[in-house]
Amino acid sequence: IPVEKFDLVIFGATGDLARRKILPGLYRRWKEGQIPKGAKIVGAARSDIPRDDFRSMVRAALEEFLNHKELVDDKIASFLEMLDYVTIDAKGDDGWDMLGSMMRPEMVRAFYFSVAPSLFGGIAKRLHQRGIADRNSRIVVEKPFGKDLMTARALNATLAEYFHEDQIYRIDHYLGKETVQNLMAVRFANILFEPLWNSQFIDHVQITVAETVGVDGRGEYYDSSGAMRDMVQNHLMQLLCLIAMEPPHSFEPDAMRDEKLKVIRALDPIKPGEYVRGQYRGRGEEDYLVDSGNPDSRTESFIAMKMHISNWRWKGTPFYLRTGKRMKSRVSEIAVTFKEPPHSIFGESNQWRENVLVIRLQPDEGMDLRVMIKEPGPGGMRLKDVALDMSFAEALGNDLDIPDAYERLIMDVIRGNQTLFMRGDEVEAAWAWVDPVIEGWELREDQPEPYEPGSTGPEGALMLMHKDGRRWREIR
Ligand code: BG6
Repeated sequence: IPVEKFDLVIFGATGDLARRKILPGLYRRWKEGQIPKGAKIVGAARSDIPRDDFRSMVRAALEEFLNHKELVDDKIASFLEMLDYVTIDAKGDDGWDMLGSMMRPEMVRAFYFSVAPSLFGGIAKRLHQRGIADRNSRIVVEKPFGKDLMTARALNATLAEYFHEDQIYRIDHYLGKETVQNLMAVRFANILFEPLWNSQFIDHVQITVAETVGVDGRGEYYDSSGAMRDMVQNHLMQLLCLIAMEPPHSFEPDAMRDEKLKVIRALDPIKPGEYVRGQYRGRGEEDYLVDSGNPDSRTESFIAMKMHISNWRWKGTPFYLRTGKRMKSRVSEIAVTFKEPPHSIFGESNQWRENVLVIRLQPDEGMDLRVMIKEPGPGGMRLKDVALDMSFAEALGNDLDIPDAYERLIMDVIRGNQTLFMRGDEVEAAWAWVDPVIEGWELREDQPEPYEPGSTGPEGALMLMHKDGRRWREIR
């Protein structure tokens, strides 16, 4: 759906996220005709550069981060014309009057805080006090949203001084991923799965987010976070919520977010023995201690854990989560493993295999349902498990252009739809669950278990499943 004209201000417009994701995402939406003529995008950053230099920087970013098929000369030229630039001091007075004068009346204004969290408060205050933002304006804030419950609460309180909750868009880019949204379509637009979607029929759920990259030049941030804060508190817990939540009565933001919040609140505290922390140890920068720049680090670059949701639907069905850096391949998927049928009529010679629904988030977005069938041939009733495999690219056309998470989310901000954004209480509830786990291992001075770079993680993670008589799905 095309949107109305708008003014979008990107604070931190010369930074990495803006160059990699936000600006290329906006260009792609422009190219697809979803951004109307007359929209304005203002870059705001510390560098004292003229508007034309900013435009050249954006052109270079598009050339670097988009493939050549997407680079259409006249589209780029018209996109760059939409861009303006203001040099701004986030902590002082410079540039704010200028920014104010660039805003047009009666237009939706969105302000994207693509800056260090320590600047969020100061920017929010200036936007409010100088009347640059009005009641209809929106602010977009990036993670990390605090580093524990206390800091997240403080940040929520600061933003709440100047903006209402319905104006605050907390990004978790996993919610913008096409297949993550598809998870909701699969669950709530089909009658097939929902009757089986509980502990009576589901043995366990696995969520894997494996990455091949290391800390990627963000050693200082990452070392003070670790996989738990960087990935689990937000992305993996959001995935867990979408799988486990009750059907909301509508796709409205608060209906969805109420249900997700209930899942987080129903999570049992995690016990020692139910998680395994790992750290990649190899040569050169394939060694976490070198890569992170902290030779004494005890930070985990991998974590696997077993989580329990204490409610009627899920009591007794464990959720196993794992995520790590410098692993064998880049795979994100959710696998829902169903229980054994109550009785086999085919005799012992037929080995039964579980029905598994796999939702692949990346790469090769798609779904795959493993079912038992009869092996063809005259050899009697021999069973075999096969995949009902659906690659979205194949099913929906090979040239399918799946939009990047950021594209979808930025357009939702302009449309004023908060469904795929985290509400303040959700973020706080997630920290309230995470905090004691981290405190526990810090108190015990837990050492992470080493794992080979390029592997599937530490031995201990395999054991976490083995001792329950289960196995992780293979990472290929
Ligand atoms: C970010 C984390 O939120 O997500 C990064 O800070 C991580 O450490 C990234 O690499 C993963 O996102 P994606 O979309 O590449 O799976």
